[in-house]
Amino acid sequence: MQHRIALIGLSGSGKTTVGPLIAQVLGWPYVDIDAQIVAAAGQPITEIFAQRGEQHFREIEAKVLHQALSDAPGVIATGGGVVENTQLQVALQESAFVVWLHAPPQQLGARLRAAADRPLLGDDPAAALQRMAERRSALYASIADWIVPTATLTPQQIADEVVRAFTRQQSAPTTSSVQVTTPGGHYLIEARAGLLDTLPDQLDRLRLDGNVWLVSDTTVMPLHGQRVLKRLQEAGRTAHSFSIPMGEQHKTLDTVRDVYDWLLSSGVERGDVILALGGGVVGDLAGFVAATVLRGIAVVQLPTTVLAMVDSAIGGKTGVDHAVGKNLVGAFHQPRLVLADTAVLATLPAAERAAGWTEAIKHGVIGDAALFEDLRRHAEKALALEEPLTGQLILRAAGYKARVVSGDEREQGERILLNYGHTIGHALEAESNYTLRHGEAVAIGMMAAGTIALRVGLFSHEALAEQRAALEAFRLPTRIPQGVDLNQILARIGSDKKVRAKRVRWVLPTRIGAAVVRSDVPGELVADVLQELVSQ
Ligand SMILES: NC(=O)c1ccc[n+]([C@@H]2O[C@H](COP(=O)([O-])OP(=O)(O)OC[C@H]3O[C@@H](n4cnc5c(N)ncnc54)[C@H](O)[C@@H]3O)[C@@H](O)[C@H]2O)c1
Ligand SMILES: [Zn+2]
Repeated sequence: MQHRIALIGLSGSGKTTVGPLIAQVLGWPYVDIDAQIVAAAGQPITEIFAQRGEQHFREIEAKVLHQALSDAPGVIATGGGVVENTQLQVALQESAFVVWLHAPPQQLGARLRAAADRPLLGDDPAAALQRMAERRSALYASIADWIVPTATLTPQQIADEVVRAFTRQQSAPTTSSVQVTTPGGHYLIEARAGLLDTLPDQLDRLRLDGNVWLVSDTTVMPLHGQRVLKRLQEAGRTAHSFSIPMGEQHKTLDTVRDVYDWLLSSGVERGDVILALGGGVVGDLAGFVAATVLRGIAVVQLPTTVLAMVDSAIGGKTGVDHAVGKNLVGAFHQPRLVLADTAVLATLPAAERAAGWTEAIKHGVIGDAALFEDLRRHAEKALALEEPLTGQLILRAAGYKARVVSGDEREQGERILLNYGHTIGHALEAESNYTLRHGEAVAIGMMAAGTIALRVGLFSHEALAEQRAALEAFRLPTRIPQGVDLNQILARIGSDKKVRAKRVRWVLPTRIGAAVVRSDVPGELVADVLQELVSQ
């Protein structure tokens, strides 16, 4: 890469204030795309819109931006709408270090109320920005190399943060962390072998100075918990530990109460931190305890399964199961850090490992074609935990979820794509009495959704075959086991919690690397596809 930094973000996010400051630090030229458009057109932006229309404006914008991206080094402040043009998205990603200046839209509205030269915002800038923010956030998040939450920073602090991120990225041979930015918190995800040894330093860095409460399960604690406790003690930390019984059947409020009892009777305080060391069960449960005990204390996620590393530890969804159904009681509580030490995967049973990679392949299919390709190609090495490859693949798969979650913390838009394969997956998982692992059921669910997408003309035969090949490379099932009652599956889909107004919202891929949501899939087609997928 690139000696170019491009700033993206909504109007009013500070691009034109921060841009010159960054340029000054780096000694680079500064390019304001809006100003260049005005120069090229020979009239103010309001007039271009009024007299020649938005389309014309976008054409000049594309030309000016392409020019800026092929010039010498520079800091480029883009217009808020560039991300809506797919070609410009690609050009930005290829030729610049892309930074999203992320600010709450309400704040932008206040700053902009007086601004007259912003033709797209109309009379009520706050409301217009809110609508625009919803549409664009997911786009910004998906193309940004780095996200700077600007709410509490001065322009100079923002500029310094951008320069720091850029320099770090230039000097690092491979990426070792990705960032999550949500209204509920900003944090890093790191993935590579040996990371648990860095835990005491990381806690210091985050100023998590209080007591440490390690929660794990009866399988993982003896395997990896002891080492974590030892490192913490060597660093002079007071660490307590507690094991919950292993398994989904213990992801309940009863277990939560046991953990509360332990914490509260041992004197947990507001400034303390819970470490969740384990798979998704420990992460969800310990995260929920952290969200609620003393009205919320810090949690650091230390995932020990592939599934937890690429999926459940990221995004802040915590909770437990209820007799009525899975994950029905919970809270959003973002962790302060996610450390995925891939060395611990060595003790994870092979089938458990494979099942976790389903979610990574899913991320590839719905949003990251390059990740998909690398997973497919390197499946054997990933299953054998070859490093540094495994850490990199885990980080990229986690990075996809991080980007989606950063654009959509509470699952109102883009985040729903993560449910790809899960509508039928959940039904199969339950119908098999959980003899199918979650990842195995989702793999079959992905084949079902992919086949539905093929039948409604969205997905190609080739792409579906590629998906099958990738799943099979990870030794995942792609057909429904004989003996499963398909009518029960259909009935369960009708009661799936992602149903809105009785219509199932299907996440359907349109190619490897992109998906859409459709709620007009006929029930007969679904029944047909399920029939076709039953093992011969
Ligand atoms: N919060 C979210 O966004 C989210 C997303 C997806 C799934 N989930 C939840 O995640 C859970 C599933 O997570 P999971 O698949 O990690 O299951 P899990 O936590 O039950 O772990 C699977 C098994 O592997 C063992 N184990 C874990 N790490 C090990 C290691 N390194 N070596 C040896 N054994 C190890 C565990 O003790 C357990 O027996 C479900 O409860 C699901 O609801 C949550
Ligand atoms: Zn899943």
